[in-house]
Amino acid sequence: MFIRSAIRAARPLTRLASQKVARNGARFALAATGAAGLTMAATAATGCEEPVAYKSEVLKKFLADDAAEALARVYIMKKLFPDNLAIKHFDFDYYNSLDAEGKKGLLMVARSGIENGDSGMGAYAMQPSDYDRFKTYLDAVIRDYHGVPAGQPHVTDWNLSGVAGLPADGKLDLTKLGLENISMRVRVGRNLSAFPLPGAMDKADRIKMENTMLKAFNVLVKDPKYGGEYCSLTPGHSNEISGQRYNELVKAHIMFKDMAADKYLATAGIASDWPYGRGCYVSADKGFIVWVGEEDHLRIMCMKKGKYLNDVFDRLRGALDTMESLPNCKFAHSEEYGYVTSCPTNLGTGMRASVHVAIPKLTKNGADVSEAKAVCKQLGLSVRGVGGEHTAAGVGGIVDISPSARFCIKEAEIITALYKGIEKLMAKEKSA
Ligand code: ARG
Repeated sequence: MFIRSAIRAARPLTRLASQKVARNGARFALAATGAAGLTMAATAATGCEEPVAYKSEVLKKFLADDAAEALARVYIMKKLFPDNLAIKHFDFDYYNSLDAEGKKGLLMVARSGIENGDSGMGAYAMQPSDYDRFKTYLDAVIRDYHGVPAGQPHVTDWNLSGVAGLPADGKLDLTKLGLENISMRVRVGRNLSAFPLPGAMDKADRIKMENTMLKAFNVLVKDPKYGGEYCSLTPGHSNEISGQRYNELVKAHIMFKDMAADKYLATAGIASDWPYGRGCYVSADKGFIVWVGEEDHLRIMCMKKGKYLNDVFDRLRGALDTMESLPNCKFAHSEEYGYVTSCPTNLGTGMRASVHVAIPKLTKNGADVSEAKAVCKQLGLSVRGVGGEHTAAGVGGIVDISPSARFCIKEAEIITALYKGIEKLMAKEKSA
């Protein structure tokens, strides 16, 4: 039994080990059979500071149950990928203290990080209740990622007045920073408390969730303030759109792409059953959009090309109030963590407020964003390409920038931080 699972476990371990070995420039083949091969893989991967015998004892313990492969990977990955928070905070004593269901649940939460060593976060909640159920683990992950001390609760606050850095007239006017006709977007992630989170949904759940939301969208469609339509990708759905229409919506940044291309989402189970239960509501003026069935049940956003960040921020605030009053729109919320999202990186506000700006000097005309990333990091900003997460900068150095903070920060502070961040970034671009 032990030998059989050891052989099974040795394969991925060896893969990981050879990555590290290759990185060290000392490539050599590892015999990936039996406990000896496994120990060798572990030794090569971890640098062999401790006696080999100790390692094989530890590994043997992890190999004693069905989760052997995953656990052995976690063990080895701790040294290989110290920035992967799902791995960093995975505690074997805590795992062993859980019952069989709990053990399975914990591994599901950490799965994307276990399968993708290069994850910065690696964890995704599978149920809204996971943040309580696995608090011992996830609280450490959350506090580490967001740099917020244990026990500090998240407070929701959209009120701009009194926020440090807000211009005296309360207007976040981008033309004052020398920017004209800027693409602005504010989104929040929200999940319905009545459903599992996307990583744990089956096809029927996804379809049911979409149909629950359809009732809410029908109310918005009849409201002259919103109007528009709901577009579904679900085959046979009453609101199903053609493939051509879908492509047009993706091009217009209204609809999201097939998430299977995102290895992190795919391994978390979030991209499964595509395109069932996926769609988006678009208002008549196309400025208010709700994605259904992406990383969170709902990604609710306002977009506009213009000059006042307040326009998208205020509109989203009003639209969220409307949505929360609609039938069945009860959003998952935690007393301590604020709005519940699949990924702990989005927890709290679930908010990403961004603009598209051209920074050709800092990005070498879009060819290399490493300098821009370093500068933005100092300013508390994240940079991505205009095609979404993990995409490259556009021609002329156009990038999407947003404040990185989501948790234990007020919504009003995020939008103000975006304004102040753009101001500083443009100054850096000028002097670059
Ligand atoms: N799971 C990926 C990682 O850990 C992405 C995390 C942040 N992005 C997101 N879309 N939730 O690196």
